[in-house]
Formats: sequence, structure tokens, C-alpha cells
Amino acid sequence: MKTTIATSSPSELETESLVAVVLDHAEAGSQDKNKKPQLKVATTDAGVQSVSADLLASGELTGKTFETNLLHKPAGLKARRLLLISGGSAKKFSSYELRRVAGTAVRTLKARGIRSFAILAPSNIAAEEAVRAIVEGAYVGNFDPDYYRSDRKDQKIDAMTIIASGDKSALERAAAEAQVVGESQNFTRDLVNEPSNRMTPTILAERAKKMSAEVGLKCDVYGPDKIKELKMGAFWSVAQGSDEPPALIVMKYEPADAPESPVLGLVGKGITFDTGGISIKPADGMEKMKYDMAGGATMIGAMRAIALLKPKIKVIGIVCATENMPSGHAQKPGDVQIAMSGKSIEIINTDAEGRLVLADGLHYAKQLGCTHLVDAATLTGAVVVALGYNNAGIFTNDDAMYDRIHSANAKAGEKMWRLPVDDEYKEQIRSSIADIMNTGGRWGGAITAAMFLKEFAEDTPWIHLDIAGTAWMEDQKPWISKGPSGIALRSLIEFVKGFVA
Ligand code: BES
Ligand code: MN
Ligand code: ZN
Repeated sequence: MKTTIATSSPSELETESLVAVVLDHAEAGSQDKNKKPQLKVATTDAGVQSVSADLLASGELTGKTFETNLLHKPAGLKARRLLLISGGSAKKFSSYELRRVAGTAVRTLKARGIRSFAILAPSNIAAEEAVRAIVEGAYVGNFDPDYYRSDRKDQKIDAMTIIASGDKSALERAAAEAQVVGESQNFTRDLVNEPSNRMTPTILAERAKKMSAEVGLKCDVYGPDKIKELKMGAFWSVAQGSDEPPALIVMKYEPADAPESPVLGLVGKGITFDTGGISIKPADGMEKMKYDMAGGATMIGAMRAIALLKPKIKVIGIVCATENMPSGHAQKPGDVQIAMSGKSIEIINTDAEGRLVLADGLHYAKQLGCTHLVDAATLTGAVVVALGYNNAGIFTNDDAMYDRIHSANAKAGEKMWRLPVDDEYKEQIRSSIADIMNTGGRWGGAITAAMFLKEFAEDTPWIHLDIAGTAWMEDQKPWISKGPSGIALRSLIEFVKGFVA
């Protein structure tokens, strides 16, 4: 999608469709059921205001978020159409909603076969922030996962103009950066979308290699021999049951102008299919376990964005990719495995495999010199029980790290919520025959999984993001298709940038 910044008058712009945001200025919080929305377009342009005035005053609209209305041949405008999209309450409206409004604009227009449009940056959000949100939201909206449908229409928006006021070159820079982020998020979504027969560990590694070559990252891929040589007994215990070889993917971004430290380590769970292993999962819904590599795909996409945005900081991306299969050479409940760190693990449930591959991934990241760790993983069903589909889980051993990710979430427009990793929970993963068990019983399952990882992060500042409930959209929304969401990538980019600023 070609993105252009225009500082011209909206009324004068020739475009297939002009898009403007409608905001509700009615007193928020009023209990009055008959309360009427007070709708206004979020622009100072007189032409856009006057052509939408009658519709907004008609009483026909609810003003609820993402309500859309399309006017043809809007009088007084050079645009062929005017698409009005509600952003909800004017008081609450922020770049979070704006991102979604932009996604809604893209999805509404492309469904009608329209290929280009212009959008008015609403006047109540700082121009650079608005441009970023619009570009990111538009890219997210432009993605559809129906690659294997013969009737795929592949409708896409090709060109977008953002009408904003301010320093044009600064706005263009913001748009270009946001484009890198949006494209990288969709790159991740593409990887996650592929089924396991088309996204084996080997193929995932090839995709990481190809991307790395394109953006100038160093990328090494290691197979079974190196994994065993490194004594990654936890990672290997998951991989040993599969005929598909595992891949340890290591991407390094080491710009010459970066200081020696910190070195950020981004570690992703890359289970290309999770059957559960010998502790096999029920058939119902098992097909979804193709997205169990979403954490790994997020790290690959994040490394892409980092390589292109060039922050002055060292970042290493590590993905532990393997299938989790039952077979004659699969590990069994009761087995004891020795992790790379030397800790012994009693395997209680072979379906708790993500924490096993991450245990070695985190330890390896430290060995490579990482001073700060972030992992992302579709780790537990329990995090979905705790937080549902709208917030990813944050777990961390360091309050300063929490502050960083929390402010990154706000900038990125992604929702995540902190859960505890207090020492008391460690009792649940104590084993009588080994150092720890790989499951902690029924209660607090997302937390005990994080406690397991914490044993391998040890004293290194570390964040674990459990994206099991957020990496896959169960339903489509006005601004995003059903399927892979690309959650956490934008926050990770803001998190990394936070170390440089
Ligand atoms: N990949 C799953 C977690 C998952 C569940 C991801 C639902 C996405 C949606 C993970 O490997 C798993 O199987 N976890 C088990 C852990 C249990 C055996 C302790 C779970 O959550 O049931
Ligand atoms: Mn599992
Ligand atoms: Zn899994």
C-alpha cells in the first residue's frame, strides 16, 4: 500500500473515497436512556462538515464505534465518495480507536472493490501520532488470510493518502516507520496463518533466513546435532518425537553504533504443531494448534522491523521451532530431562511443551550475552481462562521491565495485563525426583507455567508474554479479519525503542 501525506484542503482532494471520523460529543456517563448522540466530524474542513451535517443531525445514527455511512458524490467535495466512520465518544477517542477506525476504513472500502482512498487525520490527536496509528491500522485491516480459497478475491487497498497538518517531512517519516511496523506485523500473521504441513520448523527457519538476507540481519539456523551438542535437553525432549527436524533460529541485530550493553533477547515459542505429544489433545479444535508458533513468528517479524528501523541497540532473536508429536520415540510422562542450564525436569504432561523449549531458549539467550529477556508464547489455555481474548498476560521478575512493557503497550495500542509470579507459586512445580515438574496442577496454570520459565531466566530481567488467547482472532471485527492477529509485535518494537530514547 503506497502511503502519501497531503497537507492540502480535504474538499479539494480528488480521491475514490474520502474518509472522516465522526465523534460523539454528548455528555459521557449520562444515565438518560433517551440521550441523543451529538455527532460531529473530527475536522475543521467546512466542506466536509457541511456535506455530512444533515446525516449527522438526522437522528438515524447511533454514534457507536465503527458505525459506517457512505455518501456518493458528496456535494462540494472533489472526492467521489465520503465514508464516515464513528470513533465513539469524543472524550475517550485516542490513537487506540483511530487505529481501528483506519482498519475499518480499509476493510469497508476494499470489500466494495475500491483500491485507493484518502483519510482525514482527526484534529484532536497530535498529527504524528495520528499518522502512525492510521498507517498501522490500515495495514492490519488490509490483511486477509484466505490464501487457499479458490474464490479468494485478494481485494487490497493499493494507495492511501493521509490528510494532516504539520511538518510534512516529519509526518512522512512517521508514516514510513509505521509502514515498517504494519508490514512486519502482517509478515508475522502470514507465518502464523500457514498450516503445519506448509510451515514446518525447517520452512519457518527458511523464511527467517530469507527475511534476514533481505533486511541485513545475521541469521543462523541449527538442527538436531547442534541442539544436542548445546545440551538443550528440554528443547530436544519435545523435538525427539517428531520426524520433522527441529530448528533453532538465531537472528542477530548488532549495529556498529550500539553500546556493548544492554543486549535484548527476544525468545519465541515456535511449535509448528502441538498435538500434545503422548499426553495427546482431544480432536475437537486441535487444528488450531498450527498457531502454536505465533510467539516465534512474532519474534521473527519483530527482528524484521528492528533491522529496518535501525535503533541503536543490540537485539538477538531466538526461536525454538519444533513439532510436538506422539510417536515411538516421543518422550513420556514421568521422563526426566536435563535442561541446558543443568536443571532437571520431571515431565508430568508432554502437552506442557512450550515451557520446555523456552527454558533452553532463555538460557541460550543469556549465554549469547543477552542482558534483558522477553519471551512470547501461546503458552497456556489457562491464560485464556484468566484474561479471555482481549488481554495478553504479562509476567515479569522486574518492575522496571513491567513499566517498560506497559508504556510500550499504550503506545502500540495493544492490551496486556500483569499477573503475579510470586515465590509461593513455586511450590506447585516442586518435584520429588527432579528439580522441577513441567506442570503445576489445575489452579493458576498460566502463572505456574511462567514460574517454570522464571527458573531459567533466573536473575536476568525478564518478561514473559502469554499470547494464547490473543494471537488468533476467533471472529472477524470491523478493523481486522478472523485469524492471526500479530499481537505483541508492535509492543515489542516500542519496548526496544524505549531503551534508546
Ligand atoms: N499450546 C498450548 C496452549 C494453548 C492453548 C495455546 C489454547 C493456544 C490456545 C500449550 O502447549 C498447552 O498445551 N498447554 C497446556 C498446559 C497443561 C498441559 C499444563 C494447557 O494449557 O492445557
Ligand atoms: Mn501443548
Ligand atoms: Zn503448545
